[in-house]
Amino acid sequence: MEGLEPLFSLVTRRSGSALSRQQRERVAEAARPLLEGRTALELVAHLDGREGARDLLTLLSAASVHKTDLFRDEGQLEALEHHVLAPLVREGRPLELWSAGCATGEEVATLLLLLARVGAHPDSRVLGTDLSSLALARARTLAFSAEAMRRVPGPLAAQHFEREGEVFRLSQRLAGRARFLQHNLMETPYPFAEAARGFDVIMCRNVLIYFTPEAAERTVGALAERLAPSGTLVLSAAEPILKPRADLETVRVGGTFFYAPRRPGLPRPPIEALPPPRPSAPVPPVAKAPPPPRDEPVATSPEQEGEALFSLVMEWAAAGQGDAQTEAGLRKALYLAPDLAAARYCLALLLDQQGLRADAATEYRRALAVLESGRARATPFFLNPERLAAACRRALERRDRVSGVTRADAG
Ligand SMILES: C[S@@+](CC[C@H](N)C(=O)[O-])C[C@H]1O[C@@H](n2cnc3c(N)ncnc32)[C@H](O)[C@@H]1O
Repeated sequence: MEGLEPLFSLVTRRSGSALSRQQRERVAEAARPLLEGRTALELVAHLDGREGARDLLTLLSAASVHKTDLFRDEGQLEALEHHVLAPLVREGRPLELWSAGCATGEEVATLLLLLARVGAHPDSRVLGTDLSSLALARARTLAFSAEAMRRVPGPLAAQHFEREGEVFRLSQRLAGRARFLQHNLMETPYPFAEAARGFDVIMCRNVLIYFTPEAAERTVGALAERLAPSGTLVLSAAEPILKPRADLETVRVGGTFFYAPRRPGLPRPPIEALPPPRPSAPVPPVAKAPPPPRDEPVATSPEQEGEALFSLVMEWAAAGQGDAQTEAGLRKALYLAPDLAAARYCLALLLDQQGLRADAATEYRRALAVLESGRARATPFFLNPERLAAACRRALERRDRVSGVTRADAG
């Protein structure tokens, strides 16, 4: 991969992605035929020009990670369905949703199924966009393997899919509500909603996690501009917006985060805003930056990466790191290793300390469920799962004794 730095810089600039070693290897492999008879700098000049657009797309697609799933992060989807979609549906108008970075279409199908379950207007639409035309070609089929169907709730699977041999295809009634577009989040203009109001929900999950901080920040701003005033931006739990923004406020509901346009002076039913973030201690200088989380299999498994990140987060917390960074670190670790009960317990403790009792209880319960199922991963910090389970139970009992309604209880 020697001498290819200019090429990697171009791919980062044009895709937003901070490239991991695996991504660099894939880009280098895809660039091999294009490099014949050219230097890397000559290739960059070609790719940056009009005639190089198609070749550039090939390299950007090679860098992409398309890991996705139907009903990915059920907890967040449940909150979306009950706290965001259901109130919008009651307005009685068609809704417009956008899955930005939709990969092979699982998220679009999931949104269509949620809209159906919540009784959305039949003219509601879901737009799916992605950089990769190959991924989009698969997305357009809205057909999935039996393995991909494992998380789809039984009644939805029975009602809205038709089996064709080994493949489950979304019914035409729902598939007809999807449209797909090739779009690079690094390029303007962004797609417009059909209604002048803007999109009711924009989902951009597990895309920004690969981006450089600058690219992620720019993308969030551009997506916010396409939201309806009462719209909601959904990112994954692993990519929380940590810096306060002028255009978006964080809303926390059912143990998950959403982002909503700020509307000074106007209440924002039905999801409640978080209070302004508490000032947190400055981040101490640390020896090493956390490894960027990856969906793809790398030298270590995602679970091992999650464990390593958890250890780092605990070290930073012990050194006085602010709560917001600790929370973000724990959430990233849990994204990578959901069965890390100890990390979940620490997250619950942190939420408890912030007075977010209902959210804390959700996390204690999740930790307990993992511990009781025997799936919990042992961590050096908490070698005794029984003691940890007892701590979770005690925390839940303590919580039951505390009176008063919290924001999330009310939400
Ligand atoms: C890991 S998948 C996430 C799929 C889905 N959103 C989910 O959470 O399951 C990331 C997707 O983002 C797409 N992507 C990466 N960079 C992009 C960009 N600059 N513009 C549009 N899509 C991009 C990739 O092609 C890939 O399909």
